[in-house]
Amino acid sequence: MSNWSHRHVLDLAAFSVADFATVLELAQRFRAMPVAGARKLPALQGKLMTSLFFEPSTRTRSSFELAARRLSADVQSFSPSSSSLSKGESLLDTARTYVAMGANVLVVRHRCAGVPQSLARDLEGSGERVAVLNAGDGLHSHPSQGLLDLFTLARHFEPEAPGPASLAGRRIVIVGDVLHSRVARSNLWALTACGAEVVLCGPRTLLPEEFAAFVAAPPPGQGQDPVAERGPIRLSRSLEEALPGADAVMTLRLQKERMHQHLLTSLDTYHRRYGLSHDRLALCGKPVPVLHPGPVNRGVELAGELLDDSEVSLVEEQVRNGIPIRMALLYLLATGDAPALTAA
Ligand code: NCD
Repeated sequence: MSNWSHRHVLDLAAFSVADFATVLELAQRFRAMPVAGARKLPALQGKLMTSLFFEPSTRTRSSFELAARRLSADVQSFSPSSSSLSKGESLLDTARTYVAMGANVLVVRHRCAGVPQSLARDLEGSGERVAVLNAGDGLHSHPSQGLLDLFTLARHFEPEAPGPASLAGRRIVIVGDVLHSRVARSNLWALTACGAEVVLCGPRTLLPEEFAAFVAAPPPGQGQDPVAERGPIRLSRSLEEALPGADAVMTLRLQKERMHQHLLTSLDTYHRRYGLSHDRLALCGKPVPVLHPGPVNRGVELAGELLDDSEVSLVEEQVRNGIPIRMALLYLLATGDAPALTAA
């Protein structure tokens, strides 16, 4: 685990297969530890995690805060509406204020792509030691969600030893609003790195042709791809064509708040063509799990009965797995190395 070299976690495009293995292995260890009630791991005692969320969040923020507490870190959170941002303070100055209070990790969510990256660069430029963890920036990236999805899938295929190899050669269908989804983008980097075959499915307005080449080159600012060989990406316009042979199906929320033009005829039409139900899922030809990052538009992306069917739906499992994944990320960023894990 000593090969961990990331000072920040901003985008999964920068992760090697060994990085994915490190995070999943650590998450698996954290998941197995009895941390209920008052029992906490002392690993991050004396460290401070500050969450700076400039965009609403239900699960990500509380999951990070719980993860930090389970490692005995101190937790501080920032709310834009009641802060000096409304008095005109710049985002960088706000961040610097928290760093001056001793923050070791800043967990940042912003509606604009690139904000966590430029914060990390500016803070590093002024000699600060703080780590920045991207909790979702615009349409760009949501690394902790990509990792918890990967962990959930790997655990589904190999519960005892989930790792990148658990995904190799598996066919994962991602269906829905790929265009507006930072979750899909992070999943594309993670799944292809592990050698999965990804089938993206959706209407042209929500899934442009360009996504077939999404991982063909590293993103701007990144020298080279740390992964030697990635799994393929294929596009499909119909679930009837995409589902046969799938090993898992990931559904995405229709991100209406991010749609600036009329991209859908109606939610009902969308559900009929791209919504998932038990009947549709039978097209896979075998029992396969269904994932969704939440929040779910019940009856649009997923039929309510499917969402509630714990034999098939891994949605709650994703939420549960988010905690050990975020514990692993916080641990790696705050200490930079492998832990000695004993409960307090
Ligand atoms: C996602 C997000 O905010 O990007 N939600 C999440 O973090 N669980 C997906 C979404 O908003 O649809």
